[in-house]
Amino acid sequence: MSSAVATAQPSAGRTFSKGLEGVTAAETRMSFIDGEKGVLEYVGIEIDALARHSTFEETTYLLWNTRLPKKAELDAFCADLRSRYEPPEFVTNMIRAFPKDAQPMHMLRTAISALGMSDPDPNKNDVASARQKSLNVLAQAPAIVAYFDRHRRGLPLVKPNKNLSFAANFLYMLNGKEPTPTMERAFDACMILHADHGLNNSTFSARVIISTMSDVYSALTGAVGSLRGPLHGGANEDVMKMLGEIPSVGDVEKFIVGRLERKDKIAGFGHRVYKAYDPRATYLKTLAKQLATDTGNTALYEKSQAIEQVMLREKAAKGIYPNVDFYSATTYHCIGLQLDLFTPMFALSRIAGWAGHVIEQLADNRLFRPTAEYVGPHGVQYVPLAQR
Ligand code: ACO
Repeated sequence: MSSAVATAQPSAGRTFSKGLEGVTAAETRMSFIDGEKGVLEYVGIEIDALARHSTFEETTYLLWNTRLPKKAELDAFCADLRSRYEPPEFVTNMIRAFPKDAQPMHMLRTAISALGMSDPDPNKNDVASARQKSLNVLAQAPAIVAYFDRHRRGLPLVKPNKNLSFAANFLYMLNGKEPTPTMERAFDACMILHADHGLNNSTFSARVIISTMSDVYSALTGAVGSLRGPLHGGANEDVMKMLGEIPSVGDVEKFIVGRLERKDKIAGFGHRVYKAYDPRATYLKTLAKQLATDTGNTALYEKSQAIEQVMLREKAAKGIYPNVDFYSATTYHCIGLQLDLFTPMFALSRIAGWAGHVIEQLADNRLFRPTAEYVGPHGVQYVPLAQR
């Protein structure tokens, strides 16, 4: 049997960064992150100001146009979005045929992909067309998630209400009744906080896909697939599972220290970019506390806070702090969302960011095509099947 005759040598003149850490691979005008100082801005505006004063619709306009809208512009944008709330009939029928035990992120990925099939010109990639397609997906994704959730619960589907905001309409379709103003505001703030975040993995995936001049639907479908991983958007579900595993505040210390001793990661902590407190978590912590008090979930909030205390003691020196997923778990639970809808909620919001990046990429495209360092053997003889 033949063996390798030469070993691989690193290619001269090329930079290798595992996980592309520290590599700048695109330009964006949408969000700015200073991970050392814990700063996040959308088009120069601090995330905290947007979470307090903006709406998801206005924030989406900001990201897609790199400026805040005037009143008439915002009204027109909202009216356009609302006019598209209802998914095509074939997608609704498809959802009715989905297995009731399907995982919602797998369902969402499939349904977003399907939206491309009712587009008469799905491959049109000029910026104006990409905006229209993005608006459709953004407007219809809430109905897709709500319809599926009601289908699996054996409940009649609730059609969208065009008089309601993005946030209120989603909760209305999900629960069959309009949310209270407090719940609408809380959910809207979550949507704002999750809308964009630099070249995160799912956004990068969307840009990589559109850079082949594929199509908006493919790019957004790929991004959903990326987001669901537990190292990315899937972490908010893991946080909730962990909170469920800890019986009471008094058990937190033992549980967390035990996990750290086993070198397990604690969901909802750490970030590739932030080495300080994630500014989204700052706002979400306040929101989670308020909602937990209002909805009788103080025990959940107290456990979260106790986990944070242990983690700060054990890991702050290494730059590991709560990330966006940590307090969003308690927040979504208090809003009344089922555990496996947490990551789809992230997706509903991040479609705004993904689409904005797809539009940016199309406006100044260059195919993403990095290289891989080959580390295998060379000069290996082909051995015919019968002789192996
Ligand atoms: N709990 C305990 N230790 C941690 C954690 C954590 N959550 N995160 C990182 N560390 C430690 C690692 O064990 C490692 O320690 P070592 O140097 O002693 O080996 C060090 O910090 C660096 O960790 P990496 O995993 O190499 O850092 P990376 O930048 O690749 O990871 C990531 C970032 C994936 C988010 C990581 O922190 C993690 O797995 N966190 C838990 C999952 C999570 O919350 N993901 C959501 C991220 S936010 C988002 O995507 C929306």
